[in-house]
Amino acid sequence: MSALDKERSGDNQPAGVALAGDYWRPEGRPDPLSEKWRIGIGAPLSRVDGAEKVTGSARFAGEFTFEGMVYAALVYSAIANGRILAIDRREAESMDGVVLVMTHENAPRLNTPPVFLRSPNGAAGDDHPIMQTDRVHWNGQPVALVLAETQEQADAAAESIRVDYAAEPAMTDFELAKTHARQPDNVLGGPAEITVGDADAAFEAAAHQIDATYTTPRHNHNAIEPHALTLAWTTGDGDESGREGETLRIHDASQCVDLAVASLAEVFGIETSQIHITSPFVGGGFGGKALWQHQILAAAAAKLADRPVRLALSREGVYRVVGGRACTEQRVALGADEQGRLQALIHSGIAAMTQHNNLPEPFFQATKCLYAADHIRLSIDVADMHMLANTFMRAPGESVGTFALESALDELADQLGMDPLELRRRNEPERDPTSGLAFSSRHLLEAARSGAERFGWSERSATPGRRREGEWQIGMGCATATYPYIRMPGAAARITLTPDGATVGIAAHEMGMGTATVQTQVAAARLGLPVEKIAFHYGDSHLAGSVLAGGSQQTAAIGGAVIAAQRALVAELLALVGQDSPLSGLSPDEIECRDEGLGALGNGSRFETYAQILTRAGQSELSVQADAAGSEELANWSMHSFGTIFCEAGVNSVTGEVRIRRLLGSFDCGRILNAKTATSQFRGGMIMGLGLALMEETLFDPRSGRVMNPSLADYHVPVQMDVPEIEVMWTDIPDPHTPMGAHGIGEIGITGVGAAVANAVYNACGKRVRDLPITLDKLL
Ligand code: MOS
Repeated sequence: MSALDKERSGDNQPAGVALAGDYWRPEGRPDPLSEKWRIGIGAPLSRVDGAEKVTGSARFAGEFTFEGMVYAALVYSAIANGRILAIDRREAESMDGVVLVMTHENAPRLNTPPVFLRSPNGAAGDDHPIMQTDRVHWNGQPVALVLAETQEQADAAAESIRVDYAAEPAMTDFELAKTHARQPDNVLGGPAEITVGDADAAFEAAAHQIDATYTTPRHNHNAIEPHALTLAWTTGDGDESGREGETLRIHDASQCVDLAVASLAEVFGIETSQIHITSPFVGGGFGGKALWQHQILAAAAAKLADRPVRLALSREGVYRVVGGRACTEQRVALGADEQGRLQALIHSGIAAMTQHNNLPEPFFQATKCLYAADHIRLSIDVADMHMLANTFMRAPGESVGTFALESALDELADQLGMDPLELRRRNEPERDPTSGLAFSSRHLLEAARSGAERFGWSERSATPGRRREGEWQIGMGCATATYPYIRMPGAAARITLTPDGATVGIAAHEMGMGTATVQTQVAAARLGLPVEKIAFHYGDSHLAGSVLAGGSQQTAAIGGAVIAAQRALVAELLALVGQDSPLSGLSPDEIECRDEGLGALGNGSRFETYAQILTRAGQSELSVQADAAGSEELANWSMHSFGTIFCEAGVNSVTGEVRIRRLLGSFDCGRILNAKTATSQFRGGMIMGLGLALMEETLFDPRSGRVMNPSLADYHVPVQMDVPEIEVMWTDIPDPHTPMGAHGIGEIGITGVGAAVANAVYNACGKRVRDLPITLDKLL
């Protein structure tokens, strides 16, 4: 018996699940699926695609082939700003197997792609023209692309290409760029400065003050699957869609298939119906897998050479072409009274950015909602640099912002001689301190309390440096984790019902986090079908809706769309039943889905299976599509995931080395939909947080703007031996105002970890490190 079956066979298992109510409005009824005990939601169902992945039959984007396919290699610029004077391609063109050398001199005319967060169709990282002129905008910009019969031939030919440049002055030094910082137009669509009261005056008047500067470095994306795609231009019947005319067929690794189609259509001046992207398996996205130059260049080269193309970025290529997290310098100033109540909370600072994108690293996001303070001032300025545009990277803003804020809270607790959890408890707000909205569901204190108990927080010594084992000084630290609940517009779902089960199709994504599994579970519960009878289709731009796998919002977005589609399906089914059906005369709101059919709420005898309804109506299938309702919940409440991270760290008193001994995350993220995949999500985020705390740092040469460590040999991420025992727990309290009662869990795991580690290091040895990563040189 599977865990899911066990769950389903529970005593208190009711007959079925009613249609979801108007949960997103005040006074609305919560989604019945938020009740865990009813239908197996929360059960640790193993991954539905697990066998395909471990046997290698799951094909990733760089593993597809087309007849006549050639391989691409890129040449990257060696200057950060200036012009290309000449490109010597003669040797490359004479080499074995070379099919094409493409530069700005022969690339097809391409429109500039729409930029993410600037245009509704935007998936691109920046607004630079792509291989259209002799201009160079960052060190690492692609300046040539080679196609050859094999990857080795393409790589060798790319190596042989010589480029002469006329370099111009470039802003590649953050210290210098900071002196020209400016306030950006917006931060994620909101203001770049937020004030409540007069924080500066309140800070000056406060009995206790902490005023410190925290710095965080650049980070690069290092998904286990580097960016790759395989594509072909075909005509008419070459595409399975059967569309007439030229079509572009792409196997990509994407977290936004529909936005990528919309952007590529603009770049190539064609209809969106002429582009088909599939992306069924993605080896990690984390914000880095939208649209960058490599996809556009591959498609342009394929057109020019009239050959299908595979382009797989090398690890170095990912660093040159795909943006990462920007560096930040943050000031946190806290003013508190004798009881530790915050009077003033200031979180301001500067992040590196370019003039060609629209993502000021939003480090104040978490600070907006975490603590009650009468006077708050939050602001972000940006320092423009000649660099690859920065982008989203797991919990952009919160991951580095909580490092600063939660380190400062620890410093204040230390000054007050107060337990850091108690300090946080005293500043727990009743309403969102900056928006004034009520919280939809906030059980942070419960998460902190239960986590502290499990971790053994009471064993912590308030005085640093008290616990020692040989050379090792040992300490404990904690920090708050948080990430907003979001549900973006545009989601839609199609449900196709047959006598044998249902197919649910939605343009969503599985990047390894368990979407396919969890959504199969949700759809099964919602429709009253066993999981074996649900086929969840996703990762295909031909499917309904527009669902971004980002912002930790995909689960809620899909959930909202499936709710709408289920309502439509039930209405259509009721329209099919005849006078002699036991369901005759019932309205959708009197119906529940149970036992592979529809039944009257609270009446076991009025029931028909889906198969009976379809068969009697003479239909082999019924297909409906519906758009998710608007995300009104976001206007009514302040909605966030919360958690507390606990860390036990050892600091070697001889070498300065830090080893994490234990890590625990206690989360409050609404209803957890699958205990197994959720644990992995949280744990993965926390491991990434360890990288942020102790290792990850992109070394950016301030003289040249060159990323100097574009490889996993030089850019360190945690490996097996760096990862301690990690415990994960959660409150599992559903939010009545979201689909399934769920909040996002994709990004919160990385938040708070940087500060929890820094605070544990301080508790171990008495050294406060305010500059990430916490490497041994900073502790000696
Ligand atoms: Mo996430 S950084 O929104 O993929």
